Amino acid sequence: MKDQDALKKMAADAAVEYVKDGQVVGLGTGSTFKHVVAKLAERVKAGLRITGVPTSLETARLAREAGIPLLAEDGEWAVDVALDGADQVDPQLNLIKGGGGALLKEKIVASAAAKFVVIVDETKRVPVLGGSFPLPVEVVRFGWGTVMKKLETFGCRAAPRMKDGGLFVTEAGHLILDLSFPKIADPGRLEADLEKTPGVVCTGLFVGRTDVVIVATQQGIVTLNRPGARP
Ligand code: A5P
Repeated sequence: MKDQDALKKMAADAAVEYVKDGQVVGLGTGSTFKHVVAKLAERVKAGLRITGVPTSLETARLAREAGIPLLAEDGEWAVDVALDGADQVDPQLNLIKGGGGALLKEKIVASAAAKFVVIVDETKRVPVLGGSFPLPVEVVRFGWGTVMKKLETFGCRAAPRMKDGGLFVTEAGHLILDLSFPKIADPGRLEADLEKTPGVVCTGLFVGRTDVVIVATQQGIVTLNRPGARP
């Protein structure tokens, strides 16, 4: 019986197969992604030439240590493939992301990518998004309490994310509100509604963006391709 970290590593090893020589690669964030950096580092040492676009300062640090060259963060990138973890995946390959608080950069990089490949262990697959995992929403600081009340009118309980006894602050200087929905029946509609609420910067809902999900299970790797996904 493999533990969760061993499953994450299995998924990461499979994901690296999507990276080809000469590509610009979006580098995700989180405990699963750390295994991707380690595997990419091995391949870079063996001669693979890639440049990375990191989605957090932590990933940038790990990538530099691993010898992966990075593009400037304010550049205009053409990302060939972005790899990242997720907190929940539904049968349509819609995601909740942002458990680590890096959702904004992750969403920008995934949107800039020609192909978006997500890696999870089997515990992240759910029939419907929501429930056990609260949806992270990044908001500006100004008026966040008022914005939070507004977001609760969408049918959730909301709480500001905390860290070390204070408010959690994202790398862009914003706050995160975690919204607990019993279930998210229409993720596309909710993503659009939440993101047009003044004060919201972005949500952790990634809808219709994922091309491939690599799931590590006790029985091996399962690859899910979104119908009509980019080749
Ligand atoms: C970071 O903000 C997240 O979106 C992560 O990609 C997600 O939380 C998955 O993290 P783990 O791989 O650590 O479970």
